Amino acid sequence: MIIKDKVFVVTGAAQGLGFAIAKDLATFGGKLALVDMNPQGLDQAAAALGEYGVEIRSYVCNVAIEADVVAMFDSIQQDFGQIDGLVNNAGITRDGLLVKHKNGETTKMTLEQWQQVIDVNLTGVFLCGREAAAKMLEAGQPGVIVNISSVCRDGNIGQSNYSAAKAGVSALTATWGKELARHGIRVGAIAPGFVNTEMVKTIPEPVLEKLKTLIPLRRLAEPAEIAHSVRYIIENDYFTTRTIAVGGGMQV
Ligand SMILES: NC(=O)c1ccc[n+]([C@@H]2O[C@H](COP(=O)([O-])OP(=O)(O)OC[C@H]3O[C@@H](n4cnc5c(N)ncnc54)[C@H](O)[C@@H]3O)[C@@H](O)[C@H]2O)c1
Repeated sequence: MIIKDKVFVVTGAAQGLGFAIAKDLATFGGKLALVDMNPQGLDQAAAALGEYGVEIRSYVCNVAIEADVVAMFDSIQQDFGQIDGLVNNAGITRDGLLVKHKNGETTKMTLEQWQQVIDVNLTGVFLCGREAAAKMLEAGQPGVIVNISSVCRDGNIGQSNYSAAKAGVSALTATWGKELARHGIRVGAIAPGFVNTEMVKTIPEPVLEKLKTLIPLRRLAEPAEIAHSVRYIIENDYFTTRTIAVGGGMQV
C-alpha cells in the first residue's frame, strides 16, 4: 500500500510508540485519525504533527469499551470518507507474579490486574480490528491492519496477563489475515522487544540494566525503529498473517 493520502487509524497515539508510528506515517503523507484515552496528550500529539501538513483528527476513546469504539469508527468514516489502515497499538501493563510466597505470606496477581490488561491489550485490539475491517468491507476497499504484540508473547516473568494478551494478539493476526485475505485486507503484527517509552520507565533502573545484558544488541529499541517495521507491513502487499519480532535479537 502506498501511504500517501491514505487514512490510518492509530490507537494509543498520544505518546510513545503510537506517536512515533503516527509521525512516521505523516512523514510519508498519510492522513491520521489519532485515538487515545488521554485528551491532553492527543492535543499535544496533533500539534506536534501539524508541521507535516497532512489531515489529522483526534478521537478520545477507551478502546476497551465496545459502544465507544463502534461510535469512534463511525465518526472516522464520516470525517475522512475512508479507512485504509489501522495500527492497533494502545496497551498497558499491570505487572505482578502469578503467586508469591514470602515471610509466610502469599500474594497473588489479582483478577483486576488480569482483567484490565486483557480488556485493553486483547479485547481492545479485537474491537478496533473488527470495526476497521467492517468499514473496509463495507467500502469494498483493500486495507491493512497492523497489531502490536510483544516478544513477551512467548512468556515473561511477572507478566501472565500481558504475555497472554500479546500471544492472543498474534493469534488474532494469523486468524484475521486468513479470514480477510479474500477481501484484500492484510493483517500483520510487530512484536517489539523493550522500547524506549514511558511504559519501560516503570521498570526499575537496575532491572533495566540487567535486561539490556540479555539483548544481543545491548540497548532498547527507539520508537522510530519499531515504526519503521510497522511501515514495512503497511507497504509490502505480499505480507500477511505473520508477527515479526523486532527485539534486538532478544528471546524472553
Ligand atoms: N515499550 C515497550 O517496551 C513495548 C514493548 C513491546 C510492546 N509494546 C507495546 O507497544 C504499545 C505501545 O506501548 P508504549 O510503550 O508506547 O506505551 P505508552 O504507555 O508510552 O503509551 C500507550 C498509550 O496508549 C494509551 N492507552 C492506554 N490505554 C488505552 C485505552 N484503553 N484506550 C485508548 N488508549 C489507551 C495511553 O494513554 C498512551 O498514550 C503497547 O501495546 C505495548 O504493549 C511496548
